[in-house]
This record gives sequence, C-alpha cells and structure tokens, in this order.
Amino acid sequence: MILVTGSTGNVGRNIVHHLLAAGEEVRALTRDPAGSGLPAGVEVVEGDFARPDTLSTALEGVQRAFLFPVFGALDGFLGHARGNGLERVVLLSSSAVTFPTPGWVGEAHQRNEEEVRSSGIAATFVRPTVFMANDLAWAEQIAATGTVQGPYAKAAMAPVDERDIAAVVAAALTSQKTLDHVSLTGPQPLNQVERVRIIGEVLGIPARFEEISRDEAHAHLVRHMPAPAADFLLDQLKSAVDGEGEAVSTAESVIGRPAYTYASWVEHRIADFRR
Ligand SMILES: NC(=O)c1ccc[n+]([C@@H]2O[C@H](COP(=O)([O-])OP(=O)(O)OC[C@H]3O[C@@H](n4cnc5c(N)ncnc54)[C@H](OP(=O)(O)O)[C@@H]3O)[C@@H](O)[C@H]2O)c1
Repeated sequence: MILVTGSTGNVGRNIVHHLLAAGEEVRALTRDPAGSGLPAGVEVVEGDFARPDTLSTALEGVQRAFLFPVFGALDGFLGHARGNGLERVVLLSSSAVTFPTPGWVGEAHQRNEEEVRSSGIAATFVRPTVFMANDLAWAEQIAATGTVQGPYAKAAMAPVDERDIAAVVAAALTSQKTLDHVSLTGPQPLNQVERVRIIGEVLGIPARFEEISRDEAHAHLVRHMPAPAADFLLDQLKSAVDGEGEAVSTAESVIGRPAYTYASWVEHRIADFRR
C-alpha cells in the first residue's frame, strides 16, 4: 500500500493517477474526503498534519508514502510512520535548498529534509524548480483584461509541469532502489512575456505582460502569503532577469520521456484558464 498525502493538490492528484495506472494499491489523505474528487479505485482517508493523531490510522499497513511539505508539521507524521514500519518516503522539496542563499522558502524545505533524514526512514527528496501551475494565478487577469501585471518581465526560468513532478515521485516510490534526491526543471527557459504570449496563443486570445514595480508587486503578494515568502519570490525573479533559466534533463532520465512543454501545460489546464 502506498499513501499519498497532499493528494488533492496539483502534484498529488497526478501521483495518484500514475500509481493507479501502474496497478499500485493507493490510499489518499485529505482533510476533506467528501470534496476530494479523487478517482474510484483509491482509498480516501481523512487526516490533517496539524492533528497528528489523525495520521496513525492512515499509515496502518502502508509501506511507502509521498510526503507533502506542510511546513513545521512533519514530526507527527514521521513519528507515526516510524512506529508503523514505513519503509520509504518520497518528500516534495524544492530546488531552493541548493541555492547559495536559500531564503525563507529554501530554509523551510531544508528543515523538512533534515527532519526526514533524521527519522531514519529511507528517503528520496524531489526538488523541483518553480511550478508552471504558479501561472494559474494569472488566469483571472487574462480572462478579464488580457493583460498580466507583474514585476521583472524578463525574469527567465524553466518552470516544470506538475505531471512531470508527479511522474518522478511515482518512479521514486515504485523503483527497486532508493534515489537520494532528484532535481527537476521544465524543458525550456521562458521569461514572463513569453509565457503570457504562449497562454494567449493556446487560448486563442491576445494576451500580454505589463511590468509593474517591485513595491507594487510586494503589496499585492503579501495579501496571499507571509512577507518573507513574498520577498523570496521577488528575489528569485530579480536574480533571473535576463538569466539563462537553466533547464536540466533529469525528469527525462528518470521517467524516460521528455518533460512537458509550457504550451502543453496550458493545454492541459485550459479549463482553469477559461473558468
Ligand atoms: N509552487 C512552486 O513553484 C514550488 C516549487 C518547489 C516546491 N514547491 C512545494 O510544493 C508545494 C505545492 O504543491 P501543490 O501545488 O501540489 O499543492 P497544492 O495544489 O497547493 O495542494 C496542497 C495540498 O496539501 C494538502 N494539505 C495542506 N495542508 C494540509 C494539512 N494540514 N494536512 C493535510 N493535508 C494538507 C491539501 O490537501 P486537502 O486540502 O485536501 O486536505 C492539498 O492536497 C508547496 O507547498 C511548496 O512547498 C512549490
């Protein structure tokens, strides 16, 4: 039995899909089983990292698990996992753990990795770069005005499709040997102007990126996230301006096919852009 936490998220839903397709027995954890929308064939159980007592039953009879990175709340899970004899855990981490200045987000992921490492359970750390799914935050602006406002227009990154992250996680959960860590990016560096243009092309509407100042962007971001996380995001964009947006082919070597392109991702999430 494989337990998937974060099973209703961008990455988790796709992990469930991969594992079911591979014929694995899957149990999915969520705080809201009734609203989970998970497919038939998966055992859906209620659990909350903030209430570790709810995790014990979910871990019964489980050999391997995907661990979603709920910051500051992994110890309860790991304690029950050890007690229940969990053999392997695959943790969703971040490329930020390898940055010279990991920042608030990278340090939080580093603490997660250290906690998992010191649990003694065999572990794989999956370290993706920025998600293509972050750009769903643009959907409303594109639908309303065709214009996305944001800072650092020329910040170039190689964002990664959640289906690729999930495929790497599923491979790490089911392979014979334990991989220590896997770093992954998307196939191609793209700046924000280029990404908005591609979204418009796939949707068949004109769409453009309009640069705003860092201060304006910060004021907007802190409505949705803690200030240190907003600073981290803005610093990441600033350092990527006119950069190479390094793309590595790790996903391809682990999953045996090329990583999904940005246009393919927009096609995949088209309903979310049109909603
Ligand atoms: N965005 C990026 O660029 C990026 C880059 C590298 C790493 N990451 C990491 O990836 C994560 C986002 O992944 P995602 O997009 O797949 O997530 P997501 O779509 O935001 O979904 C969050 C998932 O976490 C579960 N969850 C949240 N709090 C929980 C709790 N207290 N107990 C149990 N489950 C809980 C939710 O389950 P229910 O609501 O169903 O309970 C849901 O399935 C980030 O948190 C970040 O750490 C992100």
